[in-house]
Amino acid sequence: MTRRIEPAGALVGHIAVPGDKSISHRAVLIGALAEGETRVSGFGRSGDTESTIAAVRILGVEVDEPADDELVVRGVGLRGLHAPDVPIDAGNAGTLLRLLTGILAGQTGRFELTGDESLRARPMDRVAEPLTRMGARIETARGLPPVVVEGTDALKGIDYALPIASAQVKSALLLAGLNADGATTVMEPAPTRDHTELMLEAAGAPVSRRPSSVTIQPEPRLRLDEVVVPGDFSAAAPFVVAATLLAGSELTIHGVGLNPRRTGLLDVLERMGARISVYNRRKAGGEWIGDLEVHSAELTATDIAPEEVPLLVDELPLFALAAGSARGESRLTGAGELRVKESDRIETVTNGLRTLGVRIRARDDGFEVKGVPSRPTGGRMPSDGDHRIAILGAVAGVVSREGVDVGDADAVAISFPGFFDLLDSVSRR
Ligand code: S3P
Repeated sequence: MTRRIEPAGALVGHIAVPGDKSISHRAVLIGALAEGETRVSGFGRSGDTESTIAAVRILGVEVDEPADDELVVRGVGLRGLHAPDVPIDAGNAGTLLRLLTGILAGQTGRFELTGDESLRARPMDRVAEPLTRMGARIETARGLPPVVVEGTDALKGIDYALPIASAQVKSALLLAGLNADGATTVMEPAPTRDHTELMLEAAGAPVSRRPSSVTIQPEPRLRLDEVVVPGDFSAAAPFVVAATLLAGSELTIHGVGLNPRRTGLLDVLERMGARISVYNRRKAGGEWIGDLEVHSAELTATDIAPEEVPLLVDELPLFALAAGSARGESRLTGAGELRVKESDRIETVTNGLRTLGVRIRARDDGFEVKGVPSRPTGGRMPSDGDHRIAILGAVAGVVSREGVDVGDADAVAISFPGFFDLLDSVSRR
């Protein structure tokens, strides 16, 4: 479905965004491996996280849903998952597919994992290869899903240097390491989100962390009890960018997760001249949260270096739009990973924004933007069914002169089903 987004004058008001998607996936998956009940509050309900609930149910885990954003996961213990006789459908969720492959490597039985067309085009060898070194028995279709896991009780811990900075791969190995013999150490080329480590620590697993590596020891029992999920920084980001670009905006976003490995966009926007204040910074359930107050500002160009990329990997499409309205030339390098997300985001971002009048050019591992301090013209922007690109199209629409028709706009429900209503509620014409 195509959705028309009209230009807005400013974004004004107070909002909250849904619970963090990364943490919501992990709460269900780690809750499933824990002993007893895990109560999850602030759960971020979305297409992707529904896939995770459905997956653990197929594996024999009971999940109660007392409210839209509350779950009770009745864990079956570290080796208690049951092999279903049907494939597990991860839908569009790469995080689910990769983390679950690590979890299933040490279970009993045979598991087949698959997903939608976009997920079936995403690389799985990045998890299959190191898991195989741990003794896992994994088959892929030439590196792609479907993935078949033949569980084993003979996993052994390894030391593994990630060739690419990926929290999903790191997490898959740490989760497999829970059921391995000996320690598993994962070294990262650059820091990536650490929600898995934080949650496993909270569940009583022996995790030791150094600046560029993390080690887990096997542990017979986990107990999570409670997870409080903060608002999703990646869901707040489109509002932060739109409010920055629209003169006269004054927007507060309450209860947003501020894990420093997720908030790279704040640092980037601040050095471009954005006016964003953080209030009520506090810890909730082991994660930093706070309220963001955003005022509009005129931006100047900046470069994003490779080591910074993982800290804003899902916000890079929004950075491209912000750079388009900044004075000067901005450059992103070292972001080749964007080519293997839900779409090839270097192509979908550059082709999409260019048709709206942004002067942007693709590079192999990023893009270059010649910014002009004015609104993009507008037009039609396809999303290729990628939720982050549909959201980018909508933000481009509100900050444009003529509005944007966003193709396949329903894709936003993969991460943020209420996105359009919330955007509408704070848009002043
Ligand atoms: C995620 C890690 C990132 C990110 C994705 C969620 C996670 O992927 O892009 O949206 O929850 O661990 P990579 O690990 O592939 O970088």
